[in-house]
Amino acid sequence: MAKQEDVLKKIISHAKEYGFVFQSSEIYDGLSAVYDYGPNGVELKKNIRDYWWKSMVQFHENIVGLDAAIFMHPTTWKASGHVDAFSDPLIDNKDSKKRYRADVLVEDFMAKIEAKIEKEVTKAKKRFGDAFDEQQFRETNPRVLANMKKIEDIKNRLYPAMDSEDMEGIRQLIIDLEIADPISGTKNWTEVRQFNLMFSTSMGSTADSATEIYLRPETAQGIFANYLNVQKTTRMKIPFGIAQTGKAFRNEIVARQFIFRMREFEQMEMQFFVRPGTEMKWYEYWKDARMKWHLSTGIPADKYRFHDHDKLAHYANAAADIEFEFPMGFKELEGIHSRTDFDLKAHEEYSNKKLRYHDPEINESYVPYVVETSIGLDRMFLAIMSHAYTEEKLEDGSERIVMKLPPFLAPNKVAVFPLTKKDGLPEKAREIMDGLKQDYMCFYEEKDAIGKRYRRQDAIGTPYCITVDHQTLEDNTVTIRERDTMKQERIAIDKISGIVGDRLKVR
Ligand code: GAP
Repeated sequence: MAKQEDVLKKIISHAKEYGFVFQSSEIYDGLSAVYDYGPNGVELKKNIRDYWWKSMVQFHENIVGLDAAIFMHPTTWKASGHVDAFSDPLIDNKDSKKRYRADVLVEDFMAKIEAKIEKEVTKAKKRFGDAFDEQQFRETNPRVLANMKKIEDIKNRLYPAMDSEDMEGIRQLIIDLEIADPISGTKNWTEVRQFNLMFSTSMGSTADSATEIYLRPETAQGIFANYLNVQKTTRMKIPFGIAQTGKAFRNEIVARQFIFRMREFEQMEMQFFVRPGTEMKWYEYWKDARMKWHLSTGIPADKYRFHDHDKLAHYANAAADIEFEFPMGFKELEGIHSRTDFDLKAHEEYSNKKLRYHDPEINESYVPYVVETSIGLDRMFLAIMSHAYTEEKLEDGSERIVMKLPPFLAPNKVAVFPLTKKDGLPEKAREIMDGLKQDYMCFYEEKDAIGKRYRRQDAIGTPYCITVDHQTLEDNTVTIRERDTMKQERIAIDKISGIVGDRLKVR
């Protein structure tokens, strides 16, 4: 098994063991690609959400919040293009009866060729040592060149076929590449069909009166439908933004890689309404601002990169992803899209309502253009977890697993321990805990040796542990232990809150 998959497996089992993430309905053998957040997970998720909200709404006077309903009038999704265009190409294997995304079968095939190239490069690196010139090798080695050409040829067939919705073309590519079903091992494929990713349900008390409605596949449409309500009630002037966090639902076919791709997930989206013609300036502004937000968590810059889209969604005139290096490699974490006036114009047309903004500066009415930032909260959670997960060998030969979470995002900020269960230490520790919990999420424990208690807090990422010992009773001081360095200092009880507060600040 590849090493990266090992890391993801370890994170999944750690997330379960320490109450971060559980498989949904586990007692019934689980529901695929649906997850529940446990007591530590819910705190971490809330802290990420709050940090996003603070950066967007609290720090920008021209961005306000919204909490629109998950259910929307079904015409919303006709207007937005989701009924007609929000689909994936599917293919079934007749022997295993398994269903696959046809484009993913081809992409996996290309990834195998890519892996062959990387193997060739690694072998050569070992053989030539310091004298190895990787770029020259990639540009001249006949096997590498042949494999790169194979990938190029496949891309030249796959992407045009996807763009023109040529289902037969995609199927023929699978046949020509002799791709076999990983389960049955056969090449006995059905036709390729488009499959809409929206979940539908019916609203209404009787079968006759019921209307088919959809669970929203993105939170953005609730913002578009409300943009004039918000603008009028807040008297916002363009440029201004509306931020929203909430659940979205997609009937993903290829649901794997833990909480990376789920069927029920949470988005944090912001639509920024701008004067037409200024959208590229704002698009660049938000690309830069969002990358800075990611770096402000303390995760190093080399874990992130931009991927500018060549193939644009039906609503966009420019789009980029912020990709993060997950254990499975670099993958999309957030999208920044210049959505033009596509959505508002479509809602004007379908609703027959004017959605224009009167711009007092130029005395003109127009449909604003929109620049969107859209990040998956669960994906951000996985990014933070996977970067934080650390296995350490200590000087005394023992090992520990420590979640090096950014301290301000950690589920508990402080753990308070009496050294022993007697001599009045628990009472003193409780008194300290009661004071601290007014300001911070705290955890109290008196069971087991102090070393074991420290390890348990390391494993969930608690940045500070306060220990009350016999000296505390004499001089009102405690020790404060820092998670990453494991160093302890002695400080006065009345200084704890200030010291912790200062260290939790986002730098
Ligand atoms: N409103 C634009 C929009 O929804 P998107 O690229 O489809 O754009 C935005 O989704 C973000 O939502 C992605 O970058 C990703 O972080 C998250 N996301 C999308 N599908 C997801 C899924 N099935 N599971 C978890 N997160 C998902």
